[in-house]
Amino acid sequence: MAKGSALTSIQISLLLLVAIFVCSEANHRDRDYCCGGKETKITVYLQLFSGGPNATTVAVAGAPGRPRTPTEFGTIYVNDSPFTESISINSPTVGRSQGLYVASSRDGLYSFDPFSFIFTDGQYNGSTLEFQGLGYSIQNTSVTEFSVLSGTKIFRYVRGYATFLAVRQIPARNYTVTMANITIRRC
Ligand SMILES: *[C@@H]1O[C@H](CO)[C@@H](O)[C@H](O)[C@H]1NC(C)=O
Ligand SMILES: *[C@@H]1O[C@H](CO)[C@@H](O)[C@H](O)[C@H]1NC(C)=O
Ligand SMILES: *[C@@H]1O[C@H](CO)[C@@H](O)[C@H](O)[C@H]1NC(C)=O
Ligand SMILES: *[C@@H]1O[C@H](CO)[C@@H](O)[C@H](O)[C@H]1NC(C)=O
Ligand SMILES: *[C@@H]1O[C@H](CO)[C@@H](O)[C@H](O)[C@H]1NC(C)=O
Repeated sequence: MAKGSALTSIQISLLLLVAIFVCSEANHRDRDYCCGGKETKITVYLQLFSGGPNATTVAVAGAPGRPRTPTEFGTIYVNDSPFTESISINSPTVGRSQGLYVASSRDGLYSFDPFSFIFTDGQYNGSTLEFQGLGYSIQNTSVTEFSVLSGTKIFRYVRGYATFLAVRQIPARNYTVTMANITIRRC
């Protein structure tokens, strides 16, 4: 018993040492991104087409014998949508969002969404961010918040959150623009 807890406290001390080392290394590299340091905010606009020849989303699975719609429990969509610097689709493309939309609630209110942002231009070119969380199904016009789990390259060790809101909808063109505000810190 005593031996067990001694071992445990040694293990905890080692873990703390490692954590302190990793954080001071990060601090040394770039103080601005460290946990407790400055937040980085990024705003981009997702350009989504839900149908037609240039659809950026496709339903790939659903419950047997049920329609494949965003609110039908069990429907899974795969997305690959560009995101731009400002609301216009003609503004510079900064990257792409790729991932899944899973209609995960039986009442049709929520989806479970794991997806990646791949930056292909600008100061974050080549880096990625990983998102996950419960989104409102597309019918809901409220702000949805997702976790930012982490990222690669310039975004290694970051975490944070992001809010999404549809800011332009043209149903006749199957077209939606979604604003995304991303807030991250390096941890
Ligand atoms: C919108 O999506 C529907 C369903 O996929 C399709 O039939 C229609 O042609 C699309 N309209 C345009 C303008 O892309
Ligand atoms: C689909 O994309 C092509 C090539 O970018 C474009 O010429 C065409 O107008 C687009 N169609 C629609 C319905 O947006
Ligand atoms: C972004 O990265 C890609 C791949 O490394 C490269 O081909 C491209 O020139 C870069 N673009 C800018 C604007 O730096
Ligand atoms: C969106 O979801 C929230 C929380 O569940 C709910 O309060 C709100 O009424 C919903 N809005 C719409 C338009 O469905
Ligand atoms: C993003 O941030 C801007 C500026 O603070 C705010 O006006 C906008 O409503 C936010 N949008 C979302 C989806 O959080």
